[in-house]
Amino acid sequence: MSYKKFTEYYDEIVRWGEYSLDDEVAMIWEFIEEFWNGENSILEYACWSWVIAWELQKKWYEVYGIDMSISMLEKARKNMGEKNCKIWDMTTYQSERKYDCVLCNYNSICHLTSWEEWQACMRSAHNNLKPGGLFIFDINTVWEFENITRDFAQFYNIWEDTVCLEMQKNKWLFEWIVKMFIKNESGSYDCKIEKIPELSFEINAIQWELEKIWFRNLHLEDFHKGKVDEESERVYFIAEKI
Ligand SMILES: C[S@@+](CC[C@H](N)C(=O)[O-])C[C@H]1O[C@@H](n2cnc3c(N)ncnc32)[C@H](O)[C@@H]1O
Repeated sequence: MSYKKFTEYYDEIVRWGEYSLDDEVAMIWEFIEEFWNGENSILEYACWSWVIAWELQKKWYEVYGIDMSISMLEKARKNMGEKNCKIWDMTTYQSERKYDCVLCNYNSICHLTSWEEWQACMRSAHNNLKPGGLFIFDINTVWEFENITRDFAQFYNIWEDTVCLEMQKNKWLFEWIVKMFIKNESGSYDCKIEKIPELSFEINAIQWELEKIWFRNLHLEDFHKGKVDEESERVYFIAEKI
């Protein structure tokens, strides 16, 4: 698993910019309210430190989560208690119960680095939903990853450390290069580097796959509230299990 030391900085960086955690949660909440009016049990794939789930459960949702990162789940368990969070792979997870919603937020599906894994994740979500339940996930588009690869290097000062994020393309994979300059006891800096591979696909291909797996009533939403097309940066998919 590629998230190790970076785990400590991730929440600070991801919710740093102009879009707050509140905006993101409000958007997910709107999707659930608009497209589903049943009971509200949510299974979050790639639940991370429980940051989204924590907000959603304030709205009376019953939330469960799985993630592959042990260090993240330790954080999540501190917040949510052991029984609600499991270490599991979202491409194979088969729950004993069915949920109203499977959520996979913040381009977590892009962490799956082959089309076969994406297909497996969609099938797993389908299996874990009640009929009529919603699979909600978002992607960074290929367009966005290509842009980041060309133009992007960002520095974040967090506590006494500095984190630099860049992306490079390695054949068909996009790879975050995370350089962390960590202040040590003598006042100088140690540098740690982690690489996080990601992958994306054309919106149409994802759409067709969802329909093939027996999802219907597909809605696409641009995170920035614009038109959805291949030049969108971040796109949410909301699909209903038949
Ligand atoms: C972008 S972070 C998660 C962000 C979180 N969902 C949020 O909204 O802030 C991506 C997460 O995907 C998890 N992950 C990657 N591959 C996974 C897999 N096959 N199954 C479950 N979790 C996975 C990583 O451990 C990491 O916690």
